[in-house]
Amino acid sequence: MRTALVAGNWKMNGDSAFISELIKELKVSTKSSDAEVLVCPPFVYLSEVKQALSGSAIKLGAQNVSQNNNGAFTGEISLPMLNDLDCEYVILGHSERRSLYAETDELVAEKFIATEKAGLKPILCVGETLEERESDQTLEVVGRQLKTVINAAGIEKFVNAVVAYEPVWAIGTGKTATPEQAQDVHAAIRAMVAEYDADTAAKLRVLYGGSVNAGNAAELFANEDVDGGLVGGASLKANDFTAICQAAGAQ
Ligand code: 13P
Repeated sequence: MRTALVAGNWKMNGDSAFISELIKELKVSTKSSDAEVLVCPPFVYLSEVKQALSGSAIKLGAQNVSQNNNGAFTGEISLPMLNDLDCEYVILGHSERRSLYAETDELVAEKFIATEKAGLKPILCVGETLEERESDQTLEVVGRQLKTVINAAGIEKFVNAVVAYEPVWAIGTGKTATPEQAQDVHAAIRAMVAEYDADTAAKLRVLYGGSVNAGNAAELFANEDVDGGLVGGASLKANDFTAICQAAGAQ
């Protein structure tokens, strides 16, 4: 039995006043959710969100991390720093990092290995562009993104990892994948992992991300291989994020 996970990726949004209000509401509203709930604020707010979350079951995660532990890497944030703040998860290889900051499959694999070694849980994002879907390359692209990491890290490093399937065409567009489209790719991801190790595949949580909202969450999460969501825009609205967490917990 896989515990559903709902992760809020706040991206580069919010300020102190907004975040303090959001956390205050989420602490109360998500209390009864059976899903594991995670928020991933911008780096500069991690410390204040950690304090605000005190006494709550909501977990803390980061949106990215350096593959290096220290040194002359201006503007980067390291895993020891995230450990200092009790971050439990790190989002890796988000499509915005891949497309806007030129992160390659190989770099994502390096970050994955470093994250696992530091004792944090990677949330590995994979997903195809619209052009790739329309030319029937979805599984090829997702397979390449996933297998580059498995081959570099070793399947045994996936015990605490999470995979997030985020079709690029669904991110921030309001065009959610249909439950069937999501289930098909999620099942394929699990099958790819099973080629390496069946037990790891059975236990692996595969999240869906891309225009998840309060209205579509339940039908997405009802699918056998959809184990929760990675939520962008709707994670900034307490009521919507709460409804998504309830939908995940009810599955
Ligand atoms: P939206 O939920 O805003 O489409 O963003 C999804 C996402 O990129 C989460 O990482």
